[in-house]
Amino acid sequence: MTKTNQMITIHLFTGPADTEGVAVQATVGQTLMAAAVDANVDGIAADCGGTLTCATCHVMVREPWLSRLEAMPSDEDSMLDYAACAREANSRLSCQVKLTADLDGMQVDLPASQY
Ligand code: FES
Repeated sequence: MTKTNQMITIHLFTGPADTEGVAVQATVGQTLMAAAVDANVDGIAADCGGTLTCATCHVMVREPWLSRLEAMPSDEDSMLDYAACAREANSRLSCQVKLTADLDGMQVDLPASQY
């Protein structure tokens, strides 16, 4: 049976000088974007609200969590090309990253800008 409302912690880093990061409590099943927006984290704009049409929810996911994500669908891959900051090998659009229990402790870097 799946637990409901299981909470995990994710850590968002705003740049190379940010060694502390912001710890956000998130619910399993919600998206990484929603967790960040709910916590009022600066750096994720999410203008389209998660409909995969804006690329302003760009993040870079650190290992080992990156490898635990589902493979990137082609539409997300295409939209990432429109991100304001050049995509990196570990770039994802956070509205497409669904949080699972094995992502607890996930560390995520935010780009310098979403515009
Ligand atoms: S919120 Fe617009 S693409 Fe993710």
